[in-house]
Amino acid sequence: MLCSEFLGTLISFIHSLPSLKSMNDFDSLVELLKQQDYSTYDLEALFTTLLEFDFTKADLQQYIPEVKDPHNYARNILCLEPIEVVVLAWPARSSSAIHFHQGFWGVVAVAEGRLDNVTFTHQDGVVTESNMECGLAGALIKESDGVIHLLKNPTDELAITVHFYYPPLADFDGMEIYDLSTETIGVLNDTAESASWSEPRTSFKEIKKKAFKYEALEKRKDAPSHRIHPLIPKPGADEITELLTSYYREQAANYDHYDTNHESRRLYTSRINRLIADDLSKTQMANYLAIACGTGRRAMEIRALSGMHFNLFGVDISSEMGAIAKKRGISTQSSTWLNAEVEERSMDAVSFLYAFGHISSAAERAVSLTKISKCLQVGGRLYLDVFNVIDRFEWGPRAVGVYEQLDLQRMGYEKGDVFYRKTGGKSIAYLHYFAENEITELLNESGFKIISLTHVGYTKHPGEILSQPDEGSIFIIAEKAE
Ligand SMILES: C[S@@+](CC[C@H](N)C(=O)[O-])C[C@H]1O[C@@H](n2cnc3c(N)ncnc32)[C@H](O)[C@@H]1O
Ligand SMILES: [Fe+2]
Repeated sequence: MLCSEFLGTLISFIHSLPSLKSMNDFDSLVELLKQQDYSTYDLEALFTTLLEFDFTKADLQQYIPEVKDPHNYARNILCLEPIEVVVLAWPARSSSAIHFHQGFWGVVAVAEGRLDNVTFTHQDGVVTESNMECGLAGALIKESDGVIHLLKNPTDELAITVHFYYPPLADFDGMEIYDLSTETIGVLNDTAESASWSEPRTSFKEIKKKAFKYEALEKRKDAPSHRIHPLIPKPGADEITELLTSYYREQAANYDHYDTNHESRRLYTSRINRLIADDLSKTQMANYLAIACGTGRRAMEIRALSGMHFNLFGVDISSEMGAIAKKRGISTQSSTWLNAEVEERSMDAVSFLYAFGHISSAAERAVSLTKISKCLQVGGRLYLDVFNVIDRFEWGPRAVGVYEQLDLQRMGYEKGDVFYRKTGGKSIAYLHYFAENEITELLNESGFKIISLTHVGYTKHPGEILSQPDEGSIFIIAEKAE
């Protein structure tokens, strides 16, 4: 008794102490960085070292600077030689100026809250946004030598970040900062205290007016309908489900309208509906399950095209989309596929259209397919389409480019993963682009035999069956093996 009471007191005593371990860890990290030979230790090496450290658990409390100006970040420099280590506190909605990294590189680690990194290109006198990364707690963001970028806290909460720069910036002499609204570049001198437009005129060597033309991406003629928006580190399965639920909540009311009014989308989905209906009409069947049925419009069309009278069941994470499917008479569950309740071997055919890539990881996709196989009769059909990662007319190649450029593999990404936002929309969605062998192997390993694999054009040659491997999305008809 006495012994356990003592133990209890000891444990609560230990718990009441600040976490010495993590505090020491951060100090030892700084020590470790001080000992490196910076003639060979570069951005890659720094990034690799920092990956070993969990900034979300670091006890930075004593180093966090006090925010005095609610519009500007506050800094606390912990070390300047041989590398600069500085802790920043970013008040709600604060942002750095757009600045040009000339002759120095570094990494930003997000410890608390969120910090976004927006990079720009300045070419032939035109400045345009290039990439956007959304740094969640635990993110590491590279700041390469030569980059033009800004960092901002877009939330209403405080964000805490730790920055590492080499060589350290003794002062801001010669640093260029950009103002997009007036198309001005300011060159700071050594009296500037921050790389910011709030500095007095005396902190600038030169102010170059009309130094460039700013072209906002959204306003360009070739403005994309969606934008890549990496979240780092990659959020977990539950967070991705939450993101998708709000994304489709935002879209539910206009979904069918968008689907039928975009010529390429209409031709693409109609072709696949037709391929499914033709295949179904060769079989005897009673029950069809549309996973990720959305508004149910396609399931209805597939049944009508087949000329058959089977029962339609649906599952969709979005209750708003599902409600529309229910109105159409489809018996629909609002659930993720993995949480849906479907009896074993109760279905003759299952479709997973325009949505299989929303499943958050390779591991979860394998479990999802095994579950589909369980609820199918032997010989039952699976219809599924996925985006082709090498389709030269779609986003796959660009997604892989961003993945490599931002070293997203080390932030939990799988090749082909992409987070994106509809232009003008608020919510962010997740999608995976597949290599052909990736999806076929996954199906084979999950108990399916592939009956046919077809490339169908989407934005280019919409609805056409294409023969080149780097064109079109991949549509597969598979069968549950014995
Ligand atoms: C692009 S829509 C496609 C809807 C429909 N299949 C079609 O082709 O028109 C994607 C749908 O997948 C749903 N979804 C995404 N992930 C899901 C999951 N894990 N389980 C069930 N539904 C999901 C979304 O709510 C959305 O309705
Ligand atoms: Fe920077």
